[in-house]
Amino acid sequence: MRRRTFLSAVGAAAVTLALGGAALAQETVKIGLILPMTGPFASTGRQIEAAAKLYMQQKGDTVAGKTIQLIVKDDTGVADVTKRLAQELIVNDKIAVMAGFGLTPLALAPAPLATQAKVPQVVMAAATATITEASPFIVRTSFTLPQATVPMADWASQNGIKKVVTLVSDYGPGIDAEKAFTGAFTGKGGQVENLRVPLANPDFSPFLQKVADAKPDALFVFVPSGIGAQFMKQFVERGLDKSGVKLIGPGDVTDDDILNGMGDVALGAITTQHYSAAHDSPENKAFVEAFKKANPNMRPNFMAVGGYDGMHLIYEGLKKTNGQGGQALIDAMKGLSWTSPRGPVSIDPQTRDIVQNIYVRKVERKDGELYNVEFATIPNVKDPVKAAKAN
Ligand code: PHB
Repeated sequence: MRRRTFLSAVGAAAVTLALGGAALAQETVKIGLILPMTGPFASTGRQIEAAAKLYMQQKGDTVAGKTIQLIVKDDTGVADVTKRLAQELIVNDKIAVMAGFGLTPLALAPAPLATQAKVPQVVMAAATATITEASPFIVRTSFTLPQATVPMADWASQNGIKKVVTLVSDYGPGIDAEKAFTGAFTGKGGQVENLRVPLANPDFSPFLQKVADAKPDALFVFVPSGIGAQFMKQFVERGLDKSGVKLIGPGDVTDDDILNGMGDVALGAITTQHYSAAHDSPENKAFVEAFKKANPNMRPNFMAVGGYDGMHLIYEGLKKTNGQGGQALIDAMKGLSWTSPRGPVSIDPQTRDIVQNIYVRKVERKDGELYNVEFATIPNVKDPVKAAKAN
């Protein structure tokens, strides 16, 4: 009798321990952050990781009574690696959310896994318009190229520019930018010639020679974040900086991470985009200051703000679901709105894309540094491709 009591007491203790372990395990909500931390797009990974960690440092690692754990993985910019890492994080680490995704192919590769496993996928960087259609579990805190580009066509046509050559990286976001600009600009009577340059190891010089020969009023450029400096170097080597051809485009080419290193050749470039480190708001001043303090040799760019807002979206979604993931979490994220360092934003509940201001900016020197200085605002811009489909 005494022995049985002892045994059942041990048994009960073992059960309690096992349950306690499971309960403790459930107290952790894991976020898998998959980024290109090495290779040609490492600047994107560095920026997003720094911003995500800054967000957690500022807001703490407890949400709805659960501990948030960030697991950072380097996909080296290769889509097959992104997919394998996502699979491992879902199956082995039991992540509640996956986030990051530095380029379009890297965002598309794990989309079927997000759908199958019902794991929300927060796209913090990649910007081809159709990405959110690849899974109902994708939500985006970066932007879309058509969203950033249509205002550029409007500005160009209102500012005496009649003839434009477009030069874009030959893949999803570049083609989006080319189509959005060409459609909007020719619609207003402008003339456009389109050129595309390979994404990998781009040699811009033969294309820039064509631009020099065509003598357009402006050269519209899209290259993904991190590549702008290479482009600018060849732009100068071809003498285009002295040719009177104006440099315009979405803001990726003059991103704040590398802009300072470009030198005076970048002065005067006009771009349209959702974020500048020079954005004049109390939220952005605090963000830039804290980011620089935590990362002494860096300045936040639009990738950083995508990462910071992505973490905010995850935190606020988890608060609403009381820490639950899955369908409840993606549903909770739809329609959320907040004041970002970039300005007011919201998640469009229909498309799961971000609605945000687009700013027209000019590269200027301020306090000894180069900045994209905003001088006009187009408020609450939706992705125009999806907005047109919805109407
Ligand atoms: C993309 O691959 O979707 C992408 C990458 C970098 C950018 C914009 C778009 O700056």
